[in-house]
Amino acid sequence: MSSVTVRVPAKVNVQLSVGPLRDDGYHDLVNVFHAVSVFDEVIAKESESISVRVEGESADQVPVDDGNLAIQAARALAKHAGRTYGVELIIRKAIPVAGGMAGGSADAAGTLVACNELWGLGLPREDLMEIAADLGSDVPFSLLGGTAVGTGRGEQLAELATGGRFHWVFAIADGGLSTARVYAECDRLRAALGEVVAWPQASDALLAALKEGDARALGAELANDLQPAALMLRASLARTLEAGRELGALGAIVSGSGPTCAFLAADEDQARELAVGLVGAGVCRTAVPAHGPVAGASIV
Ligand code: C5P
Repeated sequence: MSSVTVRVPAKVNVQLSVGPLRDDGYHDLVNVFHAVSVFDEVIAKESESISVRVEGESADQVPVDDGNLAIQAARALAKHAGRTYGVELIIRKAIPVAGGMAGGSADAAGTLVACNELWGLGLPREDLMEIAADLGSDVPFSLLGGTAVGTGRGEQLAELATGGRFHWVFAIADGGLSTARVYAECDRLRAALGEVVAWPQASDALLAALKEGDARALGAELANDLQPAALMLRASLARTLEAGRELGALGAIVSGSGPTCAFLAADEDQARELAVGLVGAGVCRTAVPAHGPVAGASIV
């Protein structure tokens, strides 16, 4: 095999409850992940050495050295297999860079699946999940896809069956936000307010809305503990969220650590109208309609 192409989805967190800061610098979470139809493509080609090229959405903002999570994924997989392998990775980006939609994690997950195939390793999904968890908290979910409740630092996943398809619009901002910086701002805000940080719990009402495919109920239950921190670092997002609500979105939330904002729509037509309205209101760089849940990293 000389080339393998893998398609891998973005995610939105429909509930992101951030617990206390741990000794290892991470936070214990309840992180309800939902994979949506905004896809990066990872193409893996035979090569002597490991390299990456990035094309598409904000490609110039993605590092192509060892700071690239896809390169780290290829190296980790080769190490796991106990051999020296090479690969030329081409990443076609549609997921916003540093946008709170797990774009870097998606590329790492896509690389694991693509190189496992290209190198003929035949490793089972469980092995890939373990390597994924070492690469980043969101990488296992990018492999899994669908809808899942993440605990620990987000890497321990329990799949959740959902009733039907949800329709979303993602308002993409100019520039990204650093995940580490948003978590640190969340800690700072909590300390300044003297908040006692509770142990995170999954919301029963949210899980029921997902199971029943009830978009109206899900819209009312969307919750993200990182939102105040993201708004502190990027004040303009408050206007973006407000514009979506005024346009009739069933729910409006910052996606993960932001700055992408996610809006839940009643159906595909409303999602399309919302996207046009958000761009027209001048509150985002672009707005992308999508649906979820969709499958995780898959060979095409
Ligand atoms: O796991 P990942 O490398 O994607 O995390 C990026 C950063 O986000 C971490 O360095 C940490 O600052 C923050 N984080 C956290 N708690 C989590 C997940 C991420 O504090 N559960």
